[in-house]
Amino acid sequence: MKTLTLRKPDDLHLHLRQGDVMGEYARESARSFARGLVMPNTLPPVCDPAGMLKYKKEIEKEAPGFEALMAFKLLPGMDPGIVAEMKKAGALIGKLYPAGATTNAEDGISSYRQIRDVLAAMEEEGMVLSIHGEHPEAPVLEREISYLKELKDIIRDFPKLKIVLEHLSCSESIAFLESCPGHVAGTVTTHHLLYTLDDLMGGALKPHLFCKPVVKREEDRKALVDAVCSGHPRLFYGSDSAPHPRASKEGGSCGAGAFTSPAALPLLAELFEKEGALDRLEDFVSRIGAEFYGLPLNSGTLTLKKENWTVPGEIGGAVPLAAGETLSWRVAES
Ligand code: DOR
Ligand code: ZN
Repeated sequence: MKTLTLRKPDDLHLHLRQGDVMGEYARESARSFARGLVMPNTLPPVCDPAGMLKYKKEIEKEAPGFEALMAFKLLPGMDPGIVAEMKKAGALIGKLYPAGATTNAEDGISSYRQIRDVLAAMEEEGMVLSIHGEHPEAPVLEREISYLKELKDIIRDFPKLKIVLEHLSCSESIAFLESCPGHVAGTVTTHHLLYTLDDLMGGALKPHLFCKPVVKREEDRKALVDAVCSGHPRLFYGSDSAPHPRASKEGGSCGAGAFTSPAALPLLAELFEKEGALDRLEDFVSRIGAEFYGLPLNSGTLTLKKENWTVPGEIGGAVPLAAGETLSWRVAES
């Protein structure tokens, strides 16, 4: 049987939530990933060393062997001194959510000018700024493009600040990245590589595919696939796996977030195989991001088998991406 063995991947953008369900989501990630960069948009947010270390400990207790890489949320009025403290406590990124841009982002930043001194401290400390790059006041399909103007200003004002533009979703962002200096990079998700608005709402509405930024046009998907499958040196994998309880996705007001980690590697293997780029998958999921963050490469491996696998219908009360579908690759149990 055909198999594919990769250096164990990293998921450099995911949401593990809190409470009873967190352990199940963390263990699900641990099946495919050695490390995960855990987003801080919890309630309350992760925004101080004690809270961050407590969350890391809880995650790693629930999923032995999985390393939680930690993030803190940038908040208006934050003291710039927090940056050195968070760095000392091991934070890898400070995350900027534009106010109201997505799930639990009501307390976010309305303009980067609000946190100039914090960004200056991050630049000084060599702390990576991670951005949910959507301008919430723009029309939904233009939110990411609209944010690029603000990003340009951030890059101009903080020329040494390392930046990751998260979950790129449109061709303009890929073109924009080309014009950026080498210390600006981007993450790409499974769902933005695979789906478009037509999948989300061209037929029946698919709430489990609704996320922010929304999946876009075929031209956008294609631009992302071409960039990633050609081995773009500044694009790496972040699932943005964001489980929500089934009832909240299927009710009258559907929260944004797609639960993508369970089927991530099988779906990516199918895509890269179709694109004739299976040999590039390991760089995308296991090397480029680790190198950008200055992390050691993982020493373990993950084996995928070319064998049919049906994605479970529900995990931890949430419906995973491609639920009930039969995929042609599966993660071999280790
Ligand atoms: O769709 C999304 N869901 N996008 C985000 O940026 C946040 C995430 C969540 O936390 O549910
Ligand atoms: Zn996210």
